[in-house]
Amino acid sequence: MWKLDIDEAQIGWLHFDVPESSVNTLSQQALMQLDQVLDVVSNSNLKGLIILSDKKKDFIVGADIAEFTEVTNVDGAEAFMNTAHQTFKKIEDLNIPSVAMIHGNCLGGGLELALACDYRVATEDAKLGFPEVFLGIFPGFGGSVRSIERVGVLAAMTMMLSGRTSIAKKAKKMGLVDDAVPLRHLRHAAVFAIEHASHTTSRKNTILEKIMHTDLGRKLVANILRKKTKKLVNPKHYPAPFALIDLWQNYGGNRALMFKQEVKGVASLIILPQAQNLVRLFFLQERLKSLGKGQPSTIKYVHVIGAGMMGGDIAAWSVLQGLKVTLQDQNGEVVAAAIKRAAALFGKTLYTPRARQEAMDRLIPDLHGDGIKQADLVLEAIVENLEIKQGLYQAIEPQMKQGAILATNTSGIPIDELAKKLAHPERLVGIHFFNPVAKMKLVEIVAGKATDEATLQAANGFVTAIHRLPLPVKSSPGFLVNRILMPYLMEAILMVEEGIKPEAIDQAALDFGMPMGPITLADRVGLDICLAVANDLSEISEGKIPEYLNQWVQAGRLGLKSGHGFYHYKQGKIVQSQDASGRIYQEDVPNRLVARITNEAIRCLREGIVADADLLDAGMVFGTGFAPFRGGVMKYIATAGQESMMEMLDVLEDKYGERFKKDDGWR
Ligand code: NAI
Repeated sequence: MWKLDIDEAQIGWLHFDVPESSVNTLSQQALMQLDQVLDVVSNSNLKGLIILSDKKKDFIVGADIAEFTEVTNVDGAEAFMNTAHQTFKKIEDLNIPSVAMIHGNCLGGGLELALACDYRVATEDAKLGFPEVFLGIFPGFGGSVRSIERVGVLAAMTMMLSGRTSIAKKAKKMGLVDDAVPLRHLRHAAVFAIEHASHTTSRKNTILEKIMHTDLGRKLVANILRKKTKKLVNPKHYPAPFALIDLWQNYGGNRALMFKQEVKGVASLIILPQAQNLVRLFFLQERLKSLGKGQPSTIKYVHVIGAGMMGGDIAAWSVLQGLKVTLQDQNGEVVAAAIKRAAALFGKTLYTPRARQEAMDRLIPDLHGDGIKQADLVLEAIVENLEIKQGLYQAIEPQMKQGAILATNTSGIPIDELAKKLAHPERLVGIHFFNPVAKMKLVEIVAGKATDEATLQAANGFVTAIHRLPLPVKSSPGFLVNRILMPYLMEAILMVEEGIKPEAIDQAALDFGMPMGPITLADRVGLDICLAVANDLSEISEGKIPEYLNQWVQAGRLGLKSGHGFYHYKQGKIVQSQDASGRIYQEDVPNRLVARITNEAIRCLREGIVADADLLDAGMVFGTGFAPFRGGVMKYIATAGQESMMEMLDVLEDKYGERFKKDDGWR
């Protein structure tokens, strides 16, 4: 995995290349081999050492996460991390200058390795960060200590607590890398660092930082960090960030002890169910990604029809990922508004004016639909109405180029219905995005009976190419995610009808670990859309739709978009609930919410809406944000115990009626 080349200037170039893998990860074996090479290096008379990756795309993407799943106890976890600590200490102790020469992703354990070097030089667009919190842990290869030493406690903690990556240009400003250069200058920058090494690379603390490093200073700063973090996550659900803050508060004054306690802290986190569930989700995500891999996507040019909330955002996202898009709507103002939203997205996510301009150039308003003839994919996102969609397809199908595919973003109209009037139903597929497009990773790929394999492959390839996760689902009303979500939303809405306060219902869901309460979610999605989907589903799912929802929608009370739904909104923010006098709480609230979700999930599995329980979990987590630390709906059932879930349904059925009747699938 490691190859040491020595040049005429006596500089050692240590190449890392994990065989038969598209990325470099730090497995135990990779670490042990590195350790051996470092012994050779320290006994040689080299002038300096440059560590680089032979992979085209990345430096090192992190530790080998597959090995996390083999760790079953604290001792095993500690042994795992001690290997890395010992090896990185060898890099740090070399009596020659060392440089990490970084391109592409330099994440987690990869960044920890780079931090053990004296210098870090990177390509301008390299990405550096600590995504460990997303796996329920924090950096455990010495990174918590070394990152604080390099960039100061506030910047380092922000990186580790948020899991966010920085591009090298920004990382240079904070001192995480010493130089950020175009790729063609990277080798030169690495050699320059060695030739001009001063060996005084450690950063000088400012007076403020010196204060922060006193016992009292650490206590104060740790409290602020705790308070901020608590606003984002619940410590019971996600203990890792809080354990990291504790670590620094307690041991930040003693380097050797902090290294030791870092290992202990991460070891005790890694064996918790939260971390194990998050690691499982990581692999489920890889599974979804693999569906669209294999060959490059054939779709380079997309024509989107319907520039409303979804169509406009799908167009912008596809452009951001490098595709060319023409955007059509019957209403020119809607297209203009979508382009304005796209410009805001590019402004937030693209770093150079040139990149932003190039993106704007790839997004083309097209009121007359000229793009239909040239696009590889025509994606429809117009109103949710069968006849109107069918009419549009009849008009555009003859214009589409040969081999192009037609996709619909319908929330739940069966593909077979939509395909009825098409000459080529085999090239129609559902590509169902979730709202907001830039945030929700999941995209349901819905095959009709006639949809052919080539169309499905093209759809999977497109979704993967734009960095979303394709999930194959059966064409049945609501597909998978809305099908499971809707009974849960309707139960919440029924509870409001019974007089329970919306705030109390939302809080129960947040306490369970949902990213947003069901009442807020219904307001966000739009009460009209909720009602339409609930009506579509009413034939196949038990449950009633509250009458007042119909009345509200007719009166234009649609939720966030109309400024008034369950809550009142001012500039997109909740100002007060519609009825502050409701009952505060009722003990059945959380059970009723959970019971509707789990029962519907079991029903979907029985009906084969999705191929297996793992895919169902991936769908619910990446499509709705279902409590990731619980690992998904099916994982939750397994953890809570199937028997006790069934008993809960029996109790609720007695109390609230038929809609809680256990599905046959439980048996
Ligand atoms: P929207 O009402 O914001 O946008 C629809 C747009 O289509 C409007 O701008 C309208 O002018 C345009 N349009 C209607 N007929 C047209 C035609 N024949 N030719 C060209 N343009 C036409 O609706 P939204 O929310 O974007 O939904 C679009 C589709 O996406 C629907 O099928 C919906 O079920 C689905 N969807 C909606 C989600 C949501 O959260 N709103 C989530 C996922 C899917």
